[in-house]
Amino acid sequence: MKILVTGGAGFIGSHLVTSLLAAGHEVCALDDLSTGSYKNVQPFLDDSRFRLVVTDIVDAPAVEREVRAADQVYHLAAAVGVRLIVDEPVKTLATNIQGTEVVLEYCAKYHRQTFLASTSEVYGKLETTPFSEENASVLGPTTKSRWAYGCAKMVDEFLALAYHADRGLPVVIARFFNTVGPGQRGRYGMVVPNFVRAALEGRDLEVHGDGLQSRCFGHVEDVVRGMVALMAEPRANGQVFNLGNDEEVSIKALAERIVERTGSSSRIRYIPYEQAYSSGFEDMRQRVPCLDKVREYVGYQPTQNLDNIIDSVIEYYRNNPDAPR
Ligand SMILES: NC(=O)c1ccc[n+]([C@@H]2O[C@H](COP(=O)([O-])OP(=O)(O)OC[C@H]3O[C@@H](n4cnc5c(N)ncnc54)[C@H](O)[C@@H]3O)[C@@H](O)[C@H]2O)c1
Repeated sequence: MKILVTGGAGFIGSHLVTSLLAAGHEVCALDDLSTGSYKNVQPFLDDSRFRLVVTDIVDAPAVEREVRAADQVYHLAAAVGVRLIVDEPVKTLATNIQGTEVVLEYCAKYHRQTFLASTSEVYGKLETTPFSEENASVLGPTTKSRWAYGCAKMVDEFLALAYHADRGLPVVIARFFNTVGPGQRGRYGMVVPNFVRAALEGRDLEVHGDGLQSRCFGHVEDVVRGMVALMAEPRANGQVFNLGNDEEVSIKALAERIVERTGSSSRIRYIPYEQAYSSGFEDMRQRVPCLDKVREYVGYQPTQNLDNIIDSVIEYYRNNPDAPR
């Protein structure tokens, strides 16, 4: 097949491109290289089945041309990460809402099988654990810009489901939980690469708050396998799925584990949220996915545990000490 991957020069996108090329497909990555990078797609540039189109996702003529030329579309391009959202709220909203609207409009026009990347952030401050797809979302007030990301992705989900209902668009939506692996950058507050890098360089690992907030980390290769399986399952169209790993760890324990596995002498330092972000920053204590639905539809089962995930990031940074932050 010919497959369009928006955000294909990003972290998850470039792992997806690797997997699609390995499966024998032709791939076009459309990306503005804002948080993605040329380096991520460099390994594919000699492959005649790969093309990179550098443009903004709101460039409607380019998106139309590439959607029309494709059999399937994975839409991953987005402004990603809590810090970026807080720093550039206007850009975030434009990319994540307007950009998705452009993609969905042309996917509906040409009736292309579509994948929409959403996020666990749509659950917001929900305190029920684990999070199931039918749970309510509990977002904070609009005066706290961090909620703009989850809210924009919610609008994307509503739009995708509306295109499915009104225009028959075959679209599957997956809410990624923290996805980690080789090549992820720590620039926008991604915790695992930041901790690994600090440990390897002998710097303090900076834990925000008391460190007892917990998260679940999925390996990017497991997540990519889940994405491809969902796109191949017709029953998944018009449905929303959690995708990630349900092994829970506190951020304090994560930091300790990374110090231990790198053999580092780094210390762990606790920083109040107000100092790390801005005053009034809100975070959630726990975020665990219920994976029953994706398991039932495509037999999804994560294969990599937290230690494998940490080790893969350590190995990446040991081999790429000059990787951009
Ligand atoms: N990594 C995670 O833990 C995680 C968790 C939840 C959801 N997601 C979602 O997964 C998708 C991929 O995220 P990622 O972790 O690979 O991040 P990433 O920043 O590496 O990937 C996003 C890609 O989109 C591109 N992009 C951004 N704005 C663009 C624009 N206006 N036009 C064209 N391209 C643009 C970036 O250059 C980048 O290559 C995103 O939709 C994100 O919201 C990721």
